[in-house]
Amino acid sequence: MKIQHLKILNFRNYEKLELDFSPNYNIIYGNNGVGKTNLVESIYVLALTKSFRGSVDKVFIMNNKDVCRIEGVVSDEFQTKYKIIVNDSGKKVKINDTKIDKLSDYISRISIVLFHPDDLRFIKDSPSIRRKAMNLEISQLHNIYLKNLNMYNKLVKQRNSYLKTININAYSSSDYLDVLTSKIIDCGEKIYQSRKEYIDLINDKIGNYYNQICGISDLKIEYISDYKDFDKKKIIKKYKDNLQRDIILGKTTFGVHHDDLKFKFNGQDLKDYGSEGQQKNAIIAYKLTEIDIFKQIKKDYPIFILDDLFSELDQNKINNILNLIDDNIQTFITTTEIDKINHEILEKSKIYKVLDGEVRED
Ligand SMILES: Nc1ncnc2c1ncn2[C@@H]1O[C@H](COP(=O)(O)OP(=O)(O)O)[C@@H](O)[C@H]1O
Ligand SMILES: [Mg+2]
Repeated sequence: MKIQHLKILNFRNYEKLELDFSPNYNIIYGNNGVGKTNLVESIYVLALTKSFRGSVDKVFIMNNKDVCRIEGVVSDEFQTKYKIIVNDSGKKVKINDTKIDKLSDYISRISIVLFHPDDLRFIKDSPSIRRKAMNLEISQLHNIYLKNLNMYNKLVKQRNSYLKTININAYSSSDYLDVLTSKIIDCGEKIYQSRKEYIDLINDKIGNYYNQICGISDLKIEYISDYKDFDKKKIIKKYKDNLQRDIILGKTTFGVHHDDLKFKFNGQDLKDYGSEGQQKNAIIAYKLTEIDIFKQIKKDYPIFILDDLFSELDQNKINNILNLIDDNIQTFITTTEIDKINHEILEKSKIYKVLDGEVRED
């Protein structure tokens, strides 16, 4: 999958911008604060309707403007035109000029894998960050996953509201609660299986990528879930055992909404024992693996964005990483230090210099 053409109106610090991209490497360079991340962010937002910066949509709109628009022509089976329009009242998405009502029908079409310096949070921060990232990755692979997830979250919400209405002293049993719990378990199992399958695929390759970047060591992802080794009878019992606590707290304390991932490095938790460099390289190995899984499942490579990869990474590792990217992947690299990219790659690249909201092809 490749984005051939991009057209932007009033997105962040770009008032108007129109670019054609290379199907291979696209190098975007310039000083700090000129709009390099904004440019790749626009591609990301076009694909996923949300930013990796976690900000509200309103901030996409250029200061003092009312509406922003991102349009792109993507070569998939056909030449498909994608469009996203954001204004104060929300966002609209279109495919080939036809409005798509449900974002979930739009989101999994352009596949994208991104590395961003903040991704270190993926290892360091709370489980919700890892669940969010994993959800996004799997939804891009399997459209049905997002539907299951939305359904699961809705059911948990319903169960939680019901729990809050129960008087613990007068409670005996409730068919309604049993039905809700059973539905949660069935839907949760689907989410559990998808996540387990995905992490198994990651573990097939991530160690190998890490070794090619940094040298031999043992990197694995551990999937932690209340539904581990799923067994419906045992899980029903867990919900029963937890019921008193759930009623007191007014929430469902057991289920896949507590899932987590752990990066295990030579048997130890990378979060506690790994250096920043090891963590960064582990994330990159994870992303390269993600790309392979995309290719395997969707029969096409995703677009790969490396935002500010080079800072604090030594030249040797930069070369190793760049050499691991298949020539058939459309890659966007932003950097302040273009001299860190070796000549062999520069010769194959289209190069863009960014100057405060303007982009010049070099
Ligand atoms: N909604 C917006 N309207 C106008 N400018 C914006 C908006 N959002 C961010 N910016 C500007 O974008 C610039 C940062 O761009 P960024 O892409 O992060 O830079 P870098 O080249 O360092 O990656 C800042 O100057 C910031 O003020
Ligand atoms: Mg940046």
